[in-house]
Amino acid sequence: MAEMKSKAYGTISYANKLILAPMVRVGTLPMRLLALDYGADIVYCEELIDWKLLRSVRRENEVLGTVDYIDKSDGTVVFRTCQREKSHVVFQIGTCDPERALKVAKLVENDVAGIDVNMGCPKEFSVKGGMGSALLTQPKKAQEILRILVQGVKIPITCKIRILHDLESTVELCKQLADCGIAAIAVHGRTKDERPRHMNHNDFIRAVSQSVNIPVIANGGSKEIERYEDIAKFREETGCSSVMLARAAQWNCSIFRPEGLLPLDDVIAAYLCYAVDYDNAPANSKYCVQNMLRELQETPRGKKFLEAQTLQQMCSLWGLSEYCSKKQLEFKESGLQDRHAVVP
Ligand code: FNR
Repeated sequence: MAEMKSKAYGTISYANKLILAPMVRVGTLPMRLLALDYGADIVYCEELIDWKLLRSVRRENEVLGTVDYIDKSDGTVVFRTCQREKSHVVFQIGTCDPERALKVAKLVENDVAGIDVNMGCPKEFSVKGGMGSALLTQPKKAQEILRILVQGVKIPITCKIRILHDLESTVELCKQLADCGIAAIAVHGRTKDERPRHMNHNDFIRAVSQSVNIPVIANGGSKEIERYEDIAKFREETGCSSVMLARAAQWNCSIFRPEGLLPLDDVIAAYLCYAVDYDNAPANSKYCVQNMLRELQETPRGKKFLEAQTLQQMCSLWGLSEYCSKKQLEFKESGLQDRHAVVP
C-alpha cells in the first residue's frame, strides 16, 4: 500500500483547485476551454462509457489542431481534445469493469492530465450496468477498478462519488477508496436518491476531508453559488481547498472569474466562437447554449435561437455570422472531413 501511495503523480495536483465538473453533453471541448479561460484550473470531460471508447479510433486532426476519438461504427466524435487543455483535462470513465477501464485509460493517457472514475451517477442506464452509483455499494469492485488504474497508467487517478445515507459509512468508503493510491476524491454531498433541489450535505464532505490524507474536492454547491465569492463560502463550509462546479458553470461559465460574472451574451458569444473553432456538433452547441439561456429562450431572440439548425444560424444571433462563415470556409478549403452541418 505504501508503495502505491508514494506513486509520483505527473504534473497535475488536485489541492487548491477550481474545477469544471463532469457533465454529460455540456463538458465538451468548447465549454472546457471557456472554463479554463475564465479561471478554472482543471476541467473534466463528460462521462464517457468504456465500451464506447473501446470502439473508437484515435485521429490527429491537423485542420483543427485536435486529437479526436472517432466512433468506428458511426463516425461521430466521442472525445475531442487539444494541446491547450492537455495539462488540465481529466477524462471521466463510466465503467464497471477493471480490465475495460484499464484499456481505456491506456488508450487516452498520453492525451489527458488525469483519469476519473464516475461512482456517483444515479441514472438507470448507469446503475443497471453496474456503473456510477452502483459502485458505491460494491466497494471491492470499486477498489479493484481504482487499483488496476493506479498501477497501470502514468497519470493520476481519481474518483467522484455521492455520499451514502450515513456519515460513518461515507467516511469508511472514502478511506477504502483513498487507500487505493488515488490522487484525490470528489464528493458530491447528496445521496444517489437525492435530487439537485435537496440540500447538499456539506458536513459529510467536511468529515471526509478530515478523515483522508488526499485532497477532497467539494461538489454539489451550485444552488448557493451565484457569484465568485460564494465559492470561498463553499470551501469554508466543506473544509476542502478544491471545489468542483457543475450547474453554476453550465448556466454562466464565467463563474470561475475572480473579477466577477460576465454578461451572458458575452459568454454565449465566446462559447460560439469555440464551437466554430473546434467544429463542435451543432446539436451539442445548441444544447449548451440552451442551458445558458434557460428562461431567456422565451424572448424573441431565444425563440429564433430554438429554430436555428446550423452553427452559422446560431452565430448570426450574436453578431458572429462573418466569423463563422470565414472559419467554415477555411475548414472547407483545408478539406476538413466528417463535418456535421446541421442539427440532426
Ligand atoms: C451532471 N453530473 C455528472 N456527474 C458525473 O460524475 N458525470 C457526468 O457526466 C455528469 N453529467 C452531468 C450533466 C449535467 C447536465 C449536470 C447538471 C450534472 C453531476 C455533476 O457533476 C455534479 O455532481 C452535480 O451537478 C452537483 O454539482 P453542482 O451542480 O451543485 O455544482
